[in-house]
Amino acid sequence: MKKIKLSIFSSGVGSNLLAIHKATMDKTFPGLIELVICNKTCPAFELSKNLNYETKLISSLNSKKFETLAHNELIYHEIDLICLAGFMQILSPEFVLNWENKILNIHPSILPLFPGLHTHNRVLSKGLKIHGSTVHVVNDKLDSGKILGQLAIPVKDADIKTMKDRIKKYENILYPEVIRKYIWTFIFKKDRVYEGKLVSNKDVIFSY
Ligand code: GRF
Repeated sequence: MKKIKLSIFSSGVGSNLLAIHKATMDKTFPGLIELVICNKTCPAFELSKNLNYETKLISSLNSKKFETLAHNELIYHEIDLICLAGFMQILSPEFVLNWENKILNIHPSILPLFPGLHTHNRVLSKGLKIHGSTVHVVNDKLDSGKILGQLAIPVKDADIKTMKDRIKKYENILYPEVIRKYIWTFIFKKDRVYEGKLVSNKDVIFSY
């Protein structure tokens, strides 16, 4: 089976990197992690090295320089698909255009609600009863590319940490599944092979 070459970009804890890594252990998963790029030393950077991935730290203050170096690495490793996972840097329109439809992101809100930062605080301060996360294609506007999959959870309490952890737990299920579906549908173009799913229980709804 042909495997798509993935690059994960992270500045974070790395739970989504780990989730994608575990998904790739399944021989039916249509992708393999070839390269991890971090823009700062962070737990994801250490995790990636411990998982023995080719791991690059490109910590340039200048985003243009970061993008040039990252682009060269992506070309060198023949990367097909970039997955942003807690990557805290906005990519320029030029970079996005170069990798059009080849960059996915996971954003912790039910887009188009709450693009940008501090989503958990903003959800709580508005008194919403539902919160969630979205996997989308990255375009040249912040958090506004095509939506590929979402999850929703009830807001049970005012504790941000608990809510963030609950969302992450389910993001770690959603993101690999959406990547799997995206590869089948938009890269292999076999939409009949892989149908989307709606899965729900009292704690979470997934739709992708
Ligand atoms: C996730 O909550 C994701 O939605 C956001 O950043 C967080 C990354 O978490 N973009 P991790 O580093 O993958 O644990």
